Amino acid sequence: MRINRVEIKNFRNIKEARLRFSSGFNFIAGLNAQGKTNLLEALYLFSLCRSFRTKKREEMVALGAPFFFLRIKVESDSGVEFVLEIGVERGGRTRVKVNGEKVRGLSSILGLVPGVIFTPRDIGMVSGPPGERRTFIDYTASQISEGFLENLKEYRHVLRQRNSQIKEAAVGKCNFKIMRALDRILVEKAEDLVEGRKRVLEEIREKAADMFRHVFTGDGDLEMEYISSIKSGSGKYSELFLSSIEKMRNEEIRRGYTLKGPHCDDIGISIGKLDLRKYGSQGRKRLVAIVMKMAQASVITEKRGETPVVLLDDLFSELDDCVSARVKEFLSERYQNFITSPVEIGTQNRKGVGNFTIHKGVITRQ
Ligand SMILES: Nc1ncnc2c1ncn2[C@@H]1O[C@H](COP(=O)(O)OP(=O)(O)O)[C@@H](O)[C@H]1O
Ligand SMILES: [Mg+2]
Repeated sequence: MRINRVEIKNFRNIKEARLRFSSGFNFIAGLNAQGKTNLLEALYLFSLCRSFRTKKREEMVALGAPFFFLRIKVESDSGVEFVLEIGVERGGRTRVKVNGEKVRGLSSILGLVPGVIFTPRDIGMVSGPPGERRTFIDYTASQISEGFLENLKEYRHVLRQRNSQIKEAAVGKCNFKIMRALDRILVEKAEDLVEGRKRVLEEIREKAADMFRHVFTGDGDLEMEYISSIKSGSGKYSELFLSSIEKMRNEEIRRGYTLKGPHCDDIGISIGKLDLRKYGSQGRKRLVAIVMKMAQASVITEKRGETPVVLLDDLFSELDDCVSARVKEFLSERYQNFITSPVEIGTQNRKGVGNFTIHKGVITRQ
């Protein structure tokens, strides 16, 4: 997939822009607070169908403007072109169009433009709390399977219902018939969720380990494993989960929420058997986070049969030159890339490379 053109109106500090992108690298250089991340946010909105920075859509509307508008012209790997439009009014009203035809809401374009983004915060995937690793796996799985996303939403829904039953129980108002019914739905959804996660983690693990070894000639093997909060044993996951729920019933009522399940699981990441989160250097963690994102891009390509667009925000300012060169080499052969940087890094006038500068929201192609 590639984005050939973009038109922007009133998106954060970008008042107006019409740009034509290159099929390989697009380097976007600009000092701090000029709008580099804003541009990536606008492009990635078409992939994620929400902002990667804020939950409030209207925050993206330029101050003082009544709406923002984005239009991109994309081309699939097989050469099919289409146009997507997103308009958001202050107040949140959103209009989305595909080839000029209105569609219902942002989520109806989910999956049309596969994308992978890397921001400096992504190191949290390795060093942060388990939720960041779960999000990574869930996002990857959602990009390749609609069924996974549906099941994930349903799991979250029953989890919320169950948690409110537990809270009722604490004040003696729980209907245990309902509670038991919710337990059964929860463990079924949980089983599918964990299976789906394990499947996609296995794909990521294999690709990431291979990349770590061959692209970065890493010392020691990179390993990843799913850490379930439900102890494994003989029998189906759903049965094990159900019996652990029975055992935890009183404690759950005392503490007021569901204590175990996929929403508590984690992914262990190690190099040469050493837990990266505990023993890894900052540089090593950053490298593994990048490798995981590149593995994500490969998995999406393989499973979807379409290459994702790759967006890298301020990545190379944090990596040493040797690693940067390898990352760029790896990406250049495969994807359309958008790379922001505080300094100009790509001013080679090669075919397939676009150089842009951004100053106070005004973007100029060099
Ligand atoms: N809704 C908005 N309207 C106008 N300007 C905004 C809005 N949101 C953020 N900005 C401005 O955008 C700039 C930050 O842009 P950003 O893309 O994060 O910069 P950087 O180039 O460092 O990545 C700041 O100057 C900020 O004031
Ligand atoms: Mg930025």
